[in-house]
Amino acid sequence: MAIRDIVKDGDPILRKTCRPVEVFDEKLAKLLDDMRETMRKAEGVGLAGPQVGILRRVAVVEVGDFYVELINPVIVETDGEQIGYEGCLSVEGKSCNVARPNYVKVRYFNRNGVQMQAECEELTARAICHETDHLDGILFYDKEYKGKIKKKR
Ligand code: CO
Repeated sequence: MAIRDIVKDGDPILRKTCRPVEVFDEKLAKLLDDMRETMRKAEGVGLAGPQVGILRRVAVVEVGDFYVELINPVIVETDGEQIGYEGCLSVEGKSCNVARPNYVKVRYFNRNGVQMQAECEELTARAICHETDHLDGILFYDKEYKGKIKKKR
């Protein structure tokens, strides 16, 4: 495994649309291992292909004990809403509120090419939305929430 360099905002690669993964091979496994290690070292909760210079639809997400490798992910169902601060390993010194669904159902392939499905809520749902956005060249601050925030009582 190896730590990869994280691409920083301003690099046009972060604005490109990624192509699907078609080959599930050793190279993909190595990429995923490296992405997991790179995310952990940077203390992030997610990392997407373009952030390590790979324009393929791959991302890793880790929130607490939940770790998932998302290959060709598609969010097939959402519910509810959450508004909260978000940042990004590629965007230093910037965070803002973003509205995301509170629940997502995501279909994806694992590293062996087997189709999987996961249902996630709260921070994990937020991370999955953030990472799948990266695969379409979208950064979190594009979606800055500028409305009023209702305080929970
Ligand atoms: Co990000």
